[in-house]
Amino acid sequence: MAWLRSALQWLVELLVLPVSVLRYAGLWDPLYKRFFPHLMCSFVADINRKMAKVKKELFDELPAFAAATPAATPPPLSVLEVGCGTGANFPFYPWGCKVTCLDPNPNFERFLHRSIADSGHVELERFVLGSAEDMQQVASGSMDAVVCTLVLCSVRDIDLALSEILRVLRPGGGFFFIEHVAAVKTGWLHFFQHVVQPAWRYFGDGCSLTCDTEAHLEKAKFSKLNLKYFMEPMAFRLINDHVVGYGVK
Ligand SMILES: C[S@@+](CC[C@H](N)C(=O)[O-])C[C@H]1O[C@@H](n2cnc3c(N)ncnc32)[C@H](O)[C@@H]1O
Repeated sequence: MAWLRSALQWLVELLVLPVSVLRYAGLWDPLYKRFFPHLMCSFVADINRKMAKVKKELFDELPAFAAATPAATPPPLSVLEVGCGTGANFPFYPWGCKVTCLDPNPNFERFLHRSIADSGHVELERFVLGSAEDMQQVASGSMDAVVCTLVLCSVRDIDLALSEILRVLRPGGGFFFIEHVAAVKTGWLHFFQHVVQPAWRYFGDGCSLTCDTEAHLEKAKFSKLNLKYFMEPMAFRLINDHVVGYGVK
């Protein structure tokens, strides 16, 4: 079956040749990065509806990660959302938390402000233009929680991103994630994930369908890792398989 997969992959490569040419000419990324926030915006309501239970259960754990302090009025929970996109997770965050949003695509910023205004209960600390692999603009040990949803699939070096996440978390802080992952290796879905990948990376803004994100999470130096698999029928079946959970620094 390996030969069939390679042959089909080549066919897909051929079909997206015009896009590859545009990309190597430096024209694709600037254009697509303007368009991608609009595309994400059109999917957010559907994703949040389908994932409402998973997101609610996960983010209900956030307040437990507020730093313990003897002060009568403890500081608000500080959250760093990496690859924040349009701010899809804000409705699920606890009241009064302060969110620093980081994304390499500056075109998301105006969508974020809209989501903050709509949520009415979350405070945007600042927007940081940067990538998960290099978060030097965020101080070490400064965050109670870091959140990534549907992001690690687009990150080039997941190990480096996870070490950066551990750096910015305070001791005892939590890394919260929901990520789509590769389907079981023996199934057709896994086969088609590989076949479609050459086109998907362009139209999914660098997203990989075949990530073993769970292996990277298990390898990272979390003192405790709480990870569950779940299936959710998404608009594209290719991204039905997910992991959800949190790791503690
Ligand atoms: C599929 S969107 C998900 C957005 C949002 N987290 C959500 O759940 O709706 C992927 C996001 O990851 C961002 N991204 C891509 N590469 C990244 C990287 N290396 N570091 C951080 N974010 C990245 C993209 O700009 C985009 O905002």
